[in-house]
Amino acid sequence: MTQHNPKVALVTGATSGIGLAVTRLLAEQGHRVFLCARTEDGVTRTVKELLDDGLEVDGAPCDVRSADDVKRFVRQAVERFGTIDVLVNNAGRSGGGVTADITDELWHDVIDTNLNSVFLMTREVLTAGGMRDKDRGRIINVASTAGKQGVVLGAPYSASKHGVVGLTKALGNELAPTGITVNAVCPGYVETPMAQRVRQGYAAAYETSEDAILQKFQAKIPLGRYSTPEEVAGLVGYLASDTAASITSQALNVCGGLGNF
Ligand SMILES: NC(=O)c1ccc[n+]([C@@H]2O[C@H](COP(=O)([O-])OP(=O)(O)OC[C@H]3O[C@@H](n4cnc5c(N)ncnc54)[C@H](OP(=O)(O)O)[C@@H]3O)[C@@H](O)[C@H]2O)c1
Repeated sequence: MTQHNPKVALVTGATSGIGLAVTRLLAEQGHRVFLCARTEDGVTRTVKELLDDGLEVDGAPCDVRSADDVKRFVRQAVERFGTIDVLVNNAGRSGGGVTADITDELWHDVIDTNLNSVFLMTREVLTAGGMRDKDRGRIINVASTAGKQGVVLGAPYSASKHGVVGLTKALGNELAPTGITVNAVCPGYVETPMAQRVRQGYAAAYETSEDAILQKFQAKIPLGRYSTPEEVAGLVGYLASDTAASITSQALNVCGGLGNF
């Protein structure tokens, strides 16, 4: 489905897992994708890999926690590909533990990475990225089923993702008359490097093996398995399409039935 007038998409956290699968799919759909992650090496490697596959992508390093980085990144994207039609706020981190023992640093870093970044990037794309001057736009935030229910030993993560869902609903209603839709995609358990780190964390907290944690998590999922990054990307790709014009202010799960709300 190559587009005649290629739309410009911006994807954060695109060198791994869900963000990488989203970038690949949007580029295959005909978007010109400008991507980021924190390390120059990761960005260069990912851009090369996708260019080698014939996809139209470029990128730059950007730490989404930094307002200055976000400003520079959006400027670079516009200079390279033009004003932005689709924003995918995907960059995120896990993080938690026994809540009474959580440090200020961990709490603020999880909120900065997962929630404040979504505000900073969205504001910049709407203004300097030119989206608010258009009659069509797509903002897609990768939240989590943890943005709808509390996750034990995951208070900062759950709080940050509930925040993303709230921001999505408020901004979706605000922008609805403009033709810009705002939605959250809520993955459950998705097999990525982050998922591996999460299993390691729980194995240490519960003094058991990572395999035992995997079995425990799989048993909670009606489908009986983790989702794939490509399955999550599929919904993002749909929300970016013209057909999805009437879907806004929603938080939609891709979770094998883990959350049915
Ligand atoms: N995997 C799951 O089970 C799951 C479930 C629900 C929701 N999610 C959400 O899905 C999103 C992607 O997760 P994933 O599992 O694909 O994670 P992942 O494999 O760890 O990939 C995370 C990506 O984000 C980048 N990143 C991290 N911190 C960043 C920052 N401060 N600035 C810019 N880029 C940053 C990473 O690159 P660098 O480290 O090089 O910066 C990497 O490209 C996250 O928002 C996560 O919360 C994941």
